[in-house]
Amino acid sequence: MAIRNIVKQGDPILRKVCRSVLNFDEKLAVLLDDMIETMYDADGCGLAGPQVGMLKRVCVIDVGEGPIELVNPVIEKEEGEQFESEGCLSLPGQSGVTKRPARVTVHAQNRNGESVKVVGEGLLARALCHEIDHLNGVLYIDKVIK
Ligand code: NI
Repeated sequence: MAIRNIVKQGDPILRKVCRSVLNFDEKLAVLLDDMIETMYDADGCGLAGPQVGMLKRVCVIDVGEGPIELVNPVIEKEEGEQFESEGCLSLPGQSGVTKRPARVTVHAQNRNGESVKVVGEGLLARALCHEIDHLNGVLYIDKVIK
């Protein structure tokens, strides 16, 4: 495993739409392991492919309940709303309040290509929305309401 460099705001890669993962190979496993290590090293609760320079639809999240890795994630259902402060490892030292759903249901694949479903509320719902936004070139600052 290795710690990768985190891309910072201003780098155009953060604004690109990522490609779906088609090959569930050793390279993908290494990328996910590195992303988890990089997220922990930076003391973050989520990290998406473009933040380590990879335009692939992958992200990792840990809101204190252990690591979750998502490949090709899609938000299938959103319920309610929440208004909480959010930050991003690509925008160090900044934060802002965003409107997010209170609860989301996400369908994705794991590193082996198997189908997985994650239901998240509160912080996990925010993290899921934030990381999936990264895969579409969207940053939380686009959604800050104050
Ligand atoms: Ni982020």
